[in-house]
This record gives sequence, structure tokens and C-alpha cells, in this order.
Amino acid sequence: MRPFLIAPSILSADFARLGDDVKAVLDAGADVVHFDVMDNHYVPNLTIGPMVCKALRDYGITADIDVHLMVKPVDRIVPDFAKAGASIITFHPEASEHIDRTLQLIKESGCKAGLVFNPATPLHYLDHVMDKLDVILLMSVNPGFGGQSFIPSTLDKLRQVRERIDASGFDIRLEVDGGVKVDNIAEIAAAGADMFVAGSAIFGKPDYKAVVDEMRAELAK
Ligand code: DX5
Ligand code: ZN
Repeated sequence: MRPFLIAPSILSADFARLGDDVKAVLDAGADVVHFDVMDNHYVPNLTIGPMVCKALRDYGITADIDVHLMVKPVDRIVPDFAKAGASIITFHPEASEHIDRTLQLIKESGCKAGLVFNPATPLHYLDHVMDKLDVILLMSVNPGFGGQSFIPSTLDKLRQVRERIDASGFDIRLEVDGGVKVDNIAEIAAAGADMFVAGSAIFGKPDYKAVVDEMRAELAK
């Protein structure tokens, strides 16, 4: 398995001083910035768009930005995020009319591409696109809000996806998002995840480095 990646979700960051908060969490040892885009249509919440992504780049954030699109339609916003400095763009297959086309659009725009599975979204969406995926993201909560509890059935789904990735031979990250904490990250890694989104678990604590260190210690067990 490749090195584990810790991706703080900036949904739980301080939006009034976002640039500084993102810098702080990266200085604390986080690997990737997880950027949650919600449209109050596909999910019942409204967050941030390409302008904020570009603002973080202009502020000097050089880490990969992992844009998690919870929007419908998807395609219209992809080029804007690519121009704004996104590194990875993932989307929910139910929100795209043409999944293969959306994946191609993301790749052509120069970003890595991934599909996101809600807790009850079946894995058959993987059937014909494994060769086009850089990331598979399993939601371990229903999308829309930070601070929810990890849904335990995700562990079995992670094991299934890990098997499919390994059998495919493709170089695909297995990301998990929702309710990831110090006390469950080891179990989630054992189920096959290698990229961990954590929002409230990190930004909810005053000492980001302490949490990131604790997570890495759990992952090293
Ligand atoms: C939920 C978002 C998550 C969320 C995770 O729709 O996709 O990225 O911010 O937050 P926590 O880690 O607090 O569950
Ligand atoms: Zn997310």
C-alpha cells in the first residue's frame, strides 16, 4: 500500500481566516487539502466554489487540493475548478448524466479524477470505468455536513473496493470521508483505505499537529 494521506476537510476550518487555517493544518503535517463543494441542490448545504480555491492558490497554498463536488450538474463547474488550481476532482455518479464523459472532462482539464459513493450507492458504477479512475472515495456519512458519525457498514464496502482495486492492477487511491477520528482510523486503514478525510476531528481541536501525529501513530500500528 502506498503512503497514507491525511486530508483535512476545510468544511470545519475557520472561513473568516481560511488561508491561515489551511496553512496551519499543512504545517501540522497534513498532506492534502480536502475541499467540499456543496450546492444546496444535490446536498442540503451550500459552501464554496472555484473562487475560493483560486484564492487559496493565490495565498500560496501549494499542497494538492482535493475537490469533492457535491453538485448537480457536474460538468459545467469542472473547467472552472481546474483553472482555479484543483489537483483532484471527484464527483457523485448519481449527479452526472454521463459518468464516462465527466471523467474524461476532468482528465482533459489536467486533474486527477474520482468517483464518490454515498453510503447506499452501489459499487456497480465502478464496472466500466476503473481504467479512468485515480481515486475512489467512499462516503462514511451521508454528504452535506461535517461532524457526523462514521457509518460502520463502510468498513465492509472498503474491503470490497480494496479487492477490486488490487485485482484491477490500476493505481487508484481509496479515500474515505466522514466521521474519521483518531480512535477509528486504524480500523479504517485495515479495511483498505489509504487516504483519510477528517474535518471536525482535526479543526475541532486547538492543536492540529497533535491530532495529525496521533492519526499517523494509529496508522503505523
Ligand atoms: C461531508 C463532507 C466531509 C465532511 C467531513 O459531506 O464531504 O468532507 O466535511 O467532516 P467530518 O470529518 O467532520 O465528518
Ligand atoms: Zn468531502
